[in-house]
Amino acid sequence: MSILFVSATDDPGPWLRELNRLLPEHPVRVWPERGDDAAIRYAVAWKPPPGLLASLPRLEVILSLGAGVDAMLADPTLPDLPLVRMVEPGLVLGMTEWVAAQVLYWHRNQHAYSAQQARGVWQPLDEFLAQERRVGILGLGELGAAAARALAALGFDVAGWSRSPREIPGIACHSGPDGLAALLARSDILVCLLPLTAETRGILDAELFAALPPGAVVINAARGAHLVEGDLLAALAGGRLRGASLDVFTEEPLPAGHPFWRHPAVVVTPHVAAKTHARTAAASIAEQIRRHERGLPLENVVDSRRGY
Ligand code: NAP
Ligand code: GLV
Repeated sequence: MSILFVSATDDPGPWLRELNRLLPEHPVRVWPERGDDAAIRYAVAWKPPPGLLASLPRLEVILSLGAGVDAMLADPTLPDLPLVRMVEPGLVLGMTEWVAAQVLYWHRNQHAYSAQQARGVWQPLDEFLAQERRVGILGLGELGAAAARALAALGFDVAGWSRSPREIPGIACHSGPDGLAALLARSDILVCLLPLTAETRGILDAELFAALPPGAVVINAARGAHLVEGDLLAALAGGRLRGASLDVFTEEPLPAGHPFWRHPAVVVTPHVAAKTHARTAAASIAEQIRRHERGLPLENVVDSRRGY
């Protein structure tokens, strides 16, 4: 019963090492090498080529290397099998660090001070305490809830928004379409950590920006297609927004010459907010394979109707 590892962007070396250590009874093949297709029971995959998973006749479980499964669900031939998304401590810690770094960067005027330093300007700006800065988090799942807790621990005034009602101590939780307006109206810094679904595609648009307090900052670490890029550029140009930190883009890598590269109010990182590291994540894959083989229910299974 073998495992097929499929990723065009992840180094298979550390995964082979960890999976062989944790699951020695399961040979691991690294795509495009497949061996005997009929021996493959598990696919551990990030953006597998459309049709690949459907071509494996005895596949039983698909384990996503990423937390977001939008690319996987976009494959019309995706087999009707359990799809387990990635939930693991390294991903949570990585995202919490990236979000905290971006929030602190804008909160402490680092963007303005870096620009001043480049011009040799010594000019203290108005500074605020964290408790005076209202942060809103779209998505209160594994990553959003952890980021919310960390920001609250730093003293920020944090609220969040989810599809169903949530309760997180110290966080003002809003939910559903009716809860969105209240969250936006009080978000000086807005962080997007939603899954990309039919309901959330394009959510970061002109209408949403207009509902934020003037001069707000938008931080997107979810998916590029959450953002209407032209609307962001217009909101920055009009002064409606102060700045943006973006880790994800409609087209990745971000094409040369894209206006975000040189925009003075946009921070760009190359989809690195939270990476899935084999040294922490292989254990969660091994755990789900063991559960499957013991007849226990799988965890973190995607609901394909919901889209996440
Ligand atoms: P998750 O645990 O599934 O949480 C998703 C959250 O979004 C939940 O709170 C969910 O509400 C909420 N949500 C979904 N649809 C909604 C809607 N229509 N309206 C309001 N709230 C909605 O996902 P996660 O593990 O936190 O990951 C979130 C996303 O981060 C991933 O899907 C991926 O796209 C992105 N990501 C990016 C990176 C990176 O490096 N940039 C790394 C990892 C993940 P409920 O609580 O009611 O279900
Ligand atoms: C990365 O973007 C992920 O979804 O894990």
